[in-house]
Amino acid sequence: MSNFEYQNGQLMAEKCTLSSIATTYGTPTFVYSKSAIEQAYMNYANALGEHSGMICYAVKANSNIAVLQVLAKCGAGFDIVSKGELQRVLKAGGDPARIIFSGVGKTTAEMVFAIRAGIACFNVESHAEIARLAAAAATAGINAPVSLRVNPNVDAKTHPYISTGLKENKFGIDILHALEVYQYAKTFETLDIVGVDCHIGSQLTDTTPFIDALDKVLELVDTLAKNDIHLKHIDLGGGIGVTYKDEVPPSISDYLASIKTKIAGRNLSLILEPGRSIVANAGVLLTEVEYLKPTEHKDFAIVDAAMNDNIRPALYQAWQDILPVKQNTHNNADNNTQPEAKNWDIVGPVCETGDFLGKDRTLALQQGDILAMMSAGAYGFVMSSNYNSRTRAAEVLIDKDKPYLVRKRETFDDLINGEQLLQHI
Ligand code: LLP
Repeated sequence: MSNFEYQNGQLMAEKCTLSSIATTYGTPTFVYSKSAIEQAYMNYANALGEHSGMICYAVKANSNIAVLQVLAKCGAGFDIVSKGELQRVLKAGGDPARIIFSGVGKTTAEMVFAIRAGIACFNVESHAEIARLAAAAATAGINAPVSLRVNPNVDAKTHPYISTGLKENKFGIDILHALEVYQYAKTFETLDIVGVDCHIGSQLTDTTPFIDALDKVLELVDTLAKNDIHLKHIDLGGGIGVTYKDEVPPSISDYLASIKTKIAGRNLSLILEPGRSIVANAGVLLTEVEYLKPTEHKDFAIVDAAMNDNIRPALYQAWQDILPVKQNTHNNADNNTQPEAKNWDIVGPVCETGDFLGKDRTLALQQGDILAMMSAGAYGFVMSSNYNSRTRAAEVLIDKDKPYLVRKRETFDDLINGEQLLQHI
C-alpha cells in the first residue's frame, strides 16, 4: 500500500494533507513518509529473516540525516560511497560496524577516516586500490576488512547510465581476473579478506540478471576456497527496482528466497545495498503551477520545481507520475466552472529545453494549483543543484499526523556561502 493516497479528494502523506504541507512550508518541497521508509526497510529485513547478514541502505539514494536516523533506529546497516556519507551516517546514529564502503575512487584520507571509525568492510574495485588501502590501514594502525567488487559481465538490461555490471563499465574487477587480485590482496598483512561484492545496476525489475550474477559469484567463491581464500560474506549490491508507472518488480521476499536457496549450506552471510526501493515511493516533490502557457503546438504548465530539483527526467528520460494534491476542487469565482483536462507538458523555470518534470500529462490545471511529483524519495533531493542560482528545496518528514521540517529551504546567503567579492575592485 502506498502511503500517499487520496482521502476525500485530498492527497495525503500518512495523516497530513499535502496541500497543508505546501501552505506551511512553501514549494518546491520534498515530503517523505517515515512509515513508508520503515516498511520498505522491514520488507528486506524480514525477508532476510534468520539468515546472517545485513541490509545496508545505500545512502546515495537519500542522505537526509533524519531519513538516516529513521533507518538507523530500525537497525539498518549503510552502504556509503564517500567520507561525507559516512559522517552523515555517524551523525544519524548509525552503527559503524554495519557500514560498507563502496565506490571506485576512495581517497587515502577517506580510507583512514573509515578504518578509524571501525566500518565493516571496504568494497575494493581495483588492483591499485588494494595497495592504497593496505597503506592506509598501516597508517591507521588497524587492519582493513576487504571485499572485492567483481564485475560479472552480466547485462542488467536497465538504462545504460545506471547499468554497471558490463565489461565496458568502469566498475569492479573482471571476474575472470578476480582470483589473482584476491591473491594479491592476501599478500598484505594489513588487509583482512572477508567477502565478495557485485552490483550490476539499478532499477532492475527482473531478477534473472541478479541470479545470473550470483551464479558466477558463487563459482568464484568455490575457486577461491580451493585456493585457500575463505570468504565470510557475499554482497549482491543494490535492491530491486520500483514501480514508477507500470513496472512490476518481484516481491522482495521472493527475491531473497531465491538467493537464500542458492547459498543454502554455504555458511556465507548475505549483504544487500538497497537504496531506491527503500525510499523512492516514500517521497514526493510538491510544486506550484506558476503559469499556464497554451500554444498552438503544445500546452505548457510552468511550475516552480525544475531540473535542478529533480534531474531524473532530464538525465534518464525517467517517468514519474504527477498528481494534483486536491482533486476537482477548482472554484472559479466568475463562473464556477472546472478547468478542462488537457495534455500538459509540466516544465520548470530553468533555461534549458531539457528542463521538464513530465510530458503529455492529462490534468485539469489552473494557475496556483499544487502538484505532487510522485516516487521522488530516491535520487531526488540528493541530485539537486543550485543551477540558475536556484535555492534548493525544503525537505519535510511526516510522522503520522505531524510534519517535521528536516531541511530548511536554502536562502540567498546559503547560495553565496564561501564566495567572496574582491577587495581591490
Ligand atoms: N550499491 C552500489 C554500489 C550502487 O552503485 C548503487 C546505486 C546501489 C547500491 C543502490 O542501488 P539501488 O538499490 O538504489 O538500485 N541516479 C540514478 C540511480 C543511480 C544508482 C547508482 N548506484 C537514478 O535516479 O535512477
